[in-house]
Amino acid sequence: MKKKVFGTTADGRKGYLFTIGNNRGLEVSVTDYGASIVSIIVLDRNEKPTDVVLGYDSLEEYLRGDSYFGATVGRNCNRIEGAAFSMDGRTYKLEDNNFGNNLHSGSHGVSFRFWNLKACTDNSLTLELEDKDLEQGFPGNAKIEVSFTVTEDNALVIDYRAVADQKTVFNFTNHAYFNLNGEGSGTAMGHLLSLRASHYTPFKGFGGIPTGELAEVAGTVFDFREPKAIGKDLGAGDEQLGFTGGYDHNFVIDKASDGVETAAVVYGQESGIRMTVSTDCPGIQLYSANFSGSKTGKGGKEYHGRDAFCLETQYFPNAVNEPGFATPVTEAGEIYRSRTIYKFDK
Ligand code: BGC
Repeated sequence: MKKKVFGTTADGRKGYLFTIGNNRGLEVSVTDYGASIVSIIVLDRNEKPTDVVLGYDSLEEYLRGDSYFGATVGRNCNRIEGAAFSMDGRTYKLEDNNFGNNLHSGSHGVSFRFWNLKACTDNSLTLELEDKDLEQGFPGNAKIEVSFTVTEDNALVIDYRAVADQKTVFNFTNHAYFNLNGEGSGTAMGHLLSLRASHYTPFKGFGGIPTGELAEVAGTVFDFREPKAIGKDLGAGDEQLGFTGGYDHNFVIDKASDGVETAAVVYGQESGIRMTVSTDCPGIQLYSANFSGSKTGKGGKEYHGRDAFCLETQYFPNAVNEPGFATPVTEAGEIYRSRTIYKFDK
């Protein structure tokens, strides 16, 4: 593993950038701030090294960033309605940071914290973080770990592990913004996406909270069971897409087991790079990077909305308040584990 200083905070704390790789040209850099993926370099069809995630060049830009570029997100990723939940007769209040709801655990979420390096090899690194009882609003003192491993079959494997001394919520994801034609190469909406999902979780309205229903994708703009350009139906006038200005929806993975299974395959036609996403999670959020305006990213490149897509593996949004959804609750002392794999080929 290579390590270098990535920047310094206003109060003098250094942030680091760690780089791991394999013998096939896959190289992944991660900063300890937010356990965030800063770059994923993959060889394209012409063997050209191509960075397939949006990001920034320095810690200082991550400290100002508002888009969770590559960040580890938790204790709970996605939304919790009313920024509150009840467990065993007690109500836990979270930060309201998204129109009355909690998004990605708020400003004390793990995306905005420095993690400690626990272990590393040439192709893997593990970061750890202690999150105190009620620090984000969730019960229990928690020990959280995330590992990034680059394998010889050209995959980035992300493993989450967490344990708390009280019953709590654990639901981690990574928020990489992918563009398989290379970050900064323009719109990502031409990427061909297939999702192994016959159902998705529609929203009640603006705000992105699911109704609780598992709706069929058949005959809707949410049908990605056969490869389809991500942006193909964005202009179709769909009411659900109107609530969020594009895709920002959770799909129900057609899982046959509790283990790691393929959830999505995406293909960048210009680079020839294909990415397969596998996970043990029940859901995957397709976010078509619906942000407005532009952001100045790596190498001064301008990123616009829709220049990337996110595929965030997760428990369903608001699952802690929705009895019909698989529960993100972990018992005291129980070990939460979850794995997501992003595999690249061409
Ligand atoms: C959410 C979006 C949000 C984005 C950046 C996604 O996971 O679903 O609504 O804008 O993260 O915070």
